Amino acid sequence: MQKPTRIAPSILAADFARLGDEVQALTDAGADLVHIDVMDGHFVPNISMGPAITKALRPHSTLPFDVHLMIAPVDAFIGAFADAGADIITVHPEAGPHLHRTLQTIRVAGCRAGVSLNPATPISVLDHIIDDIDLILVMGVNPGFGGQSFIESQIDKIARIRKLIDASERPIDLEVDGGINFETAPRAVAAGADMLVAGTATFQGGPEHYARNIAALRG
Ligand code: DX5
Ligand code: ZN
Repeated sequence: MQKPTRIAPSILAADFARLGDEVQALTDAGADLVHIDVMDGHFVPNISMGPAITKALRPHSTLPFDVHLMIAPVDAFIGAFADAGADIITVHPEAGPHLHRTLQTIRVAGCRAGVSLNPATPISVLDHIIDDIDLILVMGVNPGFGGQSFIESQIDKIARIRKLIDASERPIDLEVDGGINFETAPRAVAAGADMLVAGTATFQGGPEHYARNIAALRG
């Protein structure tokens, strides 16, 4: 069942020189989770942050840390992110040879397990893992960078996955990440999303606008 919309600002769009203050500001501004984009320059063509930064940020917020791993191989790093304070760990099926094992590793580490679908990744990847996941993340853009435009074909994918989740009767979150702004947010929610990641749209205008931006995204 679709839950009330939650907003997960991506700190990829934050001021990296003031990350602790930024995470605190998002928390004060009413964000529901903190989305941490981890990139390795190999699985995606960009490098961002790792477990050390995640750990350093943990004391700056009481919100759940929603860690999105865009790294390969991924299994060896799951423990480090769990220890650093991740609450949700999301992986891409293309990041390792044994997705089911990876998801089990995340749960054994005490985190909620998410699987992320790139724009060209088919929904069928979910067929045999639906009981092993707590969250499905639909990418609205190809992973690697903030500030890209939403790929329209993903609206239909969100709607199809919403039906699949409802048929499963499991409390799986449906998150959309990339290209979410004040125009695309309501359309993603109408299609069935209940968690929205937003980098550019959250941070636009500076800290005094975070609360208003988050509220507008939530709709
Ligand atoms: C892309 C990341 C996204 C990205 C979103 O690889 O996973 O979380 O930072 O940025 P915006 O909201 O600017 O599209
Ligand atoms: Zn992300």
